[in-house]
Amino acid sequence: MTRYARITGTGGYLPAEVKTNDDIAQTVDTSDEWIFERTGIRSRHIAAPDETASAMAEIASRQAMEAAGVGPEDIDLIILGTSTPDRIFPSTACLLQQRLGVRQGAAFDVQAACSGFIFALSIADQYVRTGTAKRALVVGSELNSRVVDWNDRATCILFGDGAGAVVLEAAEQPGILSTHIHSDGQFQDLLYLPNSDVGIDDERYIQMQGNEVFKVAVNTLGRIVDDTLAANGMDKSEVDWLVPHQANIRIIGATAKKLKLPMDRVVVTIENQGNTSSASIPLALNEAIRDGRIQRGQVVLMEAFGGGFAWGSALIRY
Ligand code: COA
Repeated sequence: MTRYARITGTGGYLPAEVKTNDDIAQTVDTSDEWIFERTGIRSRHIAAPDETASAMAEIASRQAMEAAGVGPEDIDLIILGTSTPDRIFPSTACLLQQRLGVRQGAAFDVQAACSGFIFALSIADQYVRTGTAKRALVVGSELNSRVVDWNDRATCILFGDGAGAVVLEAAEQPGILSTHIHSDGQFQDLLYLPNSDVGIDDERYIQMQGNEVFKVAVNTLGRIVDDTLAANGMDKSEVDWLVPHQANIRIIGATAKKLKLPMDRVVVTIENQGNTSSASIPLALNEAIRDGRIQRGQVVLMEAFGGGFAWGSALIRY
């Protein structure tokens, strides 16, 4: 009997504080019109000083576990995508494990920048499908507001904070149909977050060559959606929903166009969340499942692109 991994619960968390484009325009030379037109963003959530990636992950995870009807004794794998860990070690997944009261299984972080959730989902899928894990918690949690330079108008307008989580369980029916992950380190200097304490850089904040990233992202995402559908012998017309990483509405629009999918079949959260990096896909998925847009049995394509470059996709029958 073929074994699959199936999403049985989702959760999300956004910090209370909201920073609008107009707020940002008070400190750097920009405007709401410029930001909205170029990115699709109007506002983003900013974590409070006492909030951490593990604290936000805990709230999202508890929601996902409640939706799945499982407790801490049921989770035997935690994989968490983040570029803003509470500590370098132990992993934020370990801190989350402790917060949730999970006492069994393994917990570890995945560092794949904005593709962290897709990478984590891909790994968890392998463990659940092979029977090595029964029930995995897959999380993306990011405190981007602490690692952007609020004096750099080219980057500070883009990012926001938040966390999203899913519970993945073994099932006889799909489930996750396939995942595809890729990296190409030759692009490392186009988008990176320095680790100035021990690393090779003097800078402290996210560094990005936005227009270069934009071009590669559009081409790469176009390719990966084709590859994902081909791997499953599926036609574009069979995709019910696109749940993309939320980096820029123009990148999202280009991928939707490639899929010939109208924008009302694309889950878009960027306007009020900005780019929450590895949290953006589980946050969007959670929103569209909870408001009833995504229904059981529908085909959902998720895709992400970010620093590395690292990119990936997951095709699921929800
Ligand atoms: N407000 C006003 N002007 C701004 C600005 C801002 N916030 N940021 C940049 N500009 C200016 C630039 O200084 C430049 O001015 P110049 O022509 O006088 O030199 C001009 O706008 C164009 O800059 P450019 O960087 O080419 O703009 P763009 O159209 O590429 O838009 C981004 C910039 C960042 C919105 C866009 O490149 C982008 O979204 N890239 C992808 C980034 C991304 O997705 N990163 C995460 C991947 S996970």
